[in-house]
Amino acid sequence: MKLVGLVGSVRKNSYNAMLLNFLAKRYEDQFEVAVADISALPFFNQDEENAPPAAVQDFKKNILDADGLLIATPEYNWSVPGILKNALDWLSRGERVAVGKPVLIVGASTGMMGTLRAQVHLRQILSSPGLDCRVLPPGGNEILVTFAASKFDESGQLIDEPTVSFIDTVIQKFVRFV
Ligand SMILES: Cc1cc2nc3c(=O)[nH]c(=O)nc-3n(C[C@H](O)[C@H](O)[C@H](O)COP(=O)(O)O)c2cc1C
Repeated sequence: MKLVGLVGSVRKNSYNAMLLNFLAKRYEDQFEVAVADISALPFFNQDEENAPPAAVQDFKKNILDADGLLIATPEYNWSVPGILKNALDWLSRGERVAVGKPVLIVGASTGMMGTLRAQVHLRQILSSPGLDCRVLPPGGNEILVTFAASKFDESGQLIDEPTVSFIDTVIQKFVRFV
């Protein structure tokens, strides 16, 4: 099973990048994750939506070929970061390559909400007609890594056992869902 990973942060020591890398490594016997570099995408331009720049075409082809998406989003001002919204806007126009794709949303924040508000917003965005993704339903499946600074070690490993064992159960459900 081939998944594409999107990270909504370009920060060098991003907890969301650590979370995505953790998922890619821990479940490598169940799926392969290719992380797309959404920081290389230009700003969305509707004038170019039907013949987008090469970087966007490559990105859209990767999404089209994937069995599903893993999206690791930070929460910026109660929503998703602009870099992630920009990537999703490209996917939503011209050839709508994300339609029907299974998606798992995960997120890490330094605070007590663990990206909850951003994840709720992201679900709404992914339900729009241009994206129309099949997101793993929220009931019991919300991977919210709160107080991230205390849950990853120096080398970027997720070291909080209850969180890891919860993620194990959600990943099994996501694999069946895909
Ligand atoms: C512009 C900005 C807005 C933020 N807004 C929120 C917020 O609304 N809620 C929250 O829990 N954390 C917020 N934070 C803190 C982030 O959760 C924290 O910086 C986190 O580490 C970002 O993810 P990253 O480590 O993957 O870069 C914000 C941070 C930035 C830089």
